[in-house]
Amino acid sequence: MTGACFAEFGVFVTCVDKDEKKVKALKKGNVPFYEPGLDELVRKNVRNGRLNFSTKIKDAVESSLVIFIAVGTPPRGDGTADMRYVEEVASEIAREIRGYKVIVTKSTVPVGTGSRLREIVSRKLTERVDFDIVSNPEFLREGSAIEDFMRPNRVVVGTSSQQAVAILKDLYRPLYLIETPFVITNIETAELIKYASNSFLAVKISFINELSKLCENVGADVQTVAKAMGLDHRIGPKFLHAGPGYGGSCFPKDTRALLTIAGKHNTGLGIVQSAVDANEHQKKHMVEKIKKGMGSVKGKTLAMLGLSFKPNTNDMREAPSIFIIEQLLKEKASVRAFDPVAMDDAKKIFKDKIKYSDGVYECVKGADAVVVVTEWNEFRNLDLARIKKILRAPNFFDLRNIYAPEKMAALGFKYHSVGRS
Ligand code: UGA
Repeated sequence: MTGACFAEFGVFVTCVDKDEKKVKALKKGNVPFYEPGLDELVRKNVRNGRLNFSTKIKDAVESSLVIFIAVGTPPRGDGTADMRYVEEVASEIAREIRGYKVIVTKSTVPVGTGSRLREIVSRKLTERVDFDIVSNPEFLREGSAIEDFMRPNRVVVGTSSQQAVAILKDLYRPLYLIETPFVITNIETAELIKYASNSFLAVKISFINELSKLCENVGADVQTVAKAMGLDHRIGPKFLHAGPGYGGSCFPKDTRALLTIAGKHNTGLGIVQSAVDANEHQKKHMVEKIKKGMGSVKGKTLAMLGLSFKPNTNDMREAPSIFIIEQLLKEKASVRAFDPVAMDDAKKIFKDKIKYSDGVYECVKGADAVVVVTEWNEFRNLDLARIKKILRAPNFFDLRNIYAPEKMAALGFKYHSVGRS
């Protein structure tokens, strides 16, 4: 993603991965995950010769001034980020360095990784050459990653080297034209900015999710509360949508990692801890909502619309759909599911425990309830009269608040949403 976007900026980029199959596919412009617009961007830049893929670190290091480390930092059981891949790659890069290089971490890494990488690279160098380490965290959202790269709210560059700052600024030069703010700071601060940003957004979501339960209990409407709150510029309207809880590869992992980092430094981050707890609770609350709304789900068929953790991605990592479906199965419900792009990924998780449908109406036909878990655009304009007709019972659980309660009631649905009575 970052490679394709830099190539689009006019930079010559080589992306390296150990997986030969992946590299072969990428050379043909086939991206192994779903991200709107990325296939086209890759193909275009491969064609014009600015984007290249390889399995050899050596070639890429030799021909580049700046090397980005963008490998995964998956969570370990204890909540810390697994730094194995980052450290392995840093060692491999070090062995190939023959002249001055800027080594940049794009992966989300714990505070202190920059200095650790400096040690590793220094130790593994085979020649006495100069290098700089930079932290340049990523703020892209899945599903709108290209737009986020091309029009970021800010670019953060953490390093102690003026030379590296100048090189990074040059790399991001097209963003100067659109007056993107640059935050230049030390490595530790840059590393922390990433965790702080994701954790704060998670706090915002958990806040509105907790408030949605109060709205349900007092007869208030959480969407109007959020809208009015968001009109206050100090609060802002974004990330105040109540739903089934946040998922994905970032918020769950980064909040836990930040708590671990804070714990190691004897610093309590009670607000982040509460956000994590509230998120777990929100997923359970969704299951309770469904159970309560239907009396019991035992022996009933539920049609789940949307499985990915958010729309416009096939990513199932920590998707709320996983917890919700597993709990419903425990309660002896039958589950049928449809997602516009995440079906193959979902099959790897649920295997033959649920049934898979090719479309919305096939999924809904004869079911005892519809549950909208992910707000894909195509679910926003369903033929509701048809849905009502083909359902066995008119239960509709809208976990993303995409429909209006009055309209749904008028159509004869037993409609349940989040934080709206
Ligand atoms: C998030 C951040 O938004 C990016 O800035 C960051 O770069 C990225 O993590 C990362 O660390 O790589 P992402 O996980 O792709 O991006 O998706 P978001 O749009 O942030 O959504 C995360 C979760 O929060 C989703 O499950 C979404 O449904 C949920 N959400 C989001 C809500 O429940 N309510 C909201 O108002 C917004």
